[in-house]
Amino acid sequence: MCPEGGGPTIKVAPSMLAADFSRFGEQAAEAAAGGADYLHLDVMDGHFVPNLTFGPPVIKALRRWTKVPFDVHVMCEEPQLLVPELAAAGADIITVHAEACAHLHRIVHQIKEAGVKAGVALNPGTPVSAVEEVLPHLDLVLVMSVNPGFGGQAFIESAVDKLRRVRRMLDEGGLKAELEVDGGIGPKTAARVAEAGASVLVAGSAVFTADVPVAQAIARIRAIAR
Ligand code: DX5
Ligand code: ZN
Repeated sequence: MCPEGGGPTIKVAPSMLAADFSRFGEQAAEAAAGGADYLHLDVMDGHFVPNLTFGPPVIKALRRWTKVPFDVHVMCEEPQLLVPELAAAGADIITVHAEACAHLHRIVHQIKEAGVKAGVALNPGTPVSAVEEVLPHLDLVLVMSVNPGFGGQAFIESAVDKLRRVRRMLDEGGLKAELEVDGGIGPKTAARVAEAGASVLVAGSAVFTADVPVAQAIARIRAIAR
């Protein structure tokens, strides 16, 4: 429990997708100093999603700037090919999409055997049952509240009920996996997703392109979610 607010502790994970890529390291350090619990790193391949970002070499370079855990969100086909390099680059959590994995059980164990926490993400159109069988093995479930690929999209309302359903599955199973939500999270949506059971809030534009400095933007989201 949180000593100040009395509510459960909510983690804030700034998404570096919305950072200034020409100052990537500085922005990571800024988010870390501003109280980020994780840094959310969106790896996109231009196939699974229609956008390209960065991969292991950039993540490895960023590792020199901060010790904050790296929460790596892999939006790629064949994510199993990237796991060894992402682990070596310094990923602390690797989250793969259920929709991209024919052998979800195998890749979850591959991630864990690489010494990294394992997460599974669900697109807005994917039912929660897609994650059910591997749930006991997971460290994190990511409910997407936008269709992945781009920052700054509008929050999809049905994510709130989906979060509730995943929260219920976790609690009824006595499972401790974190429940993360990603897409359109900011001051207007933070309270609702936290109330629905999310424990990690990813926020890109609401942190890096807000009307206030990064630290203040993170603090504002945390305060609203509490
Ligand atoms: C979208 C990415 C998100 C993105 C969120 O595909 O997975 O992490 O950065 O951006 P905002 O918070 O701006 O919706
Ligand atoms: Zn993401």
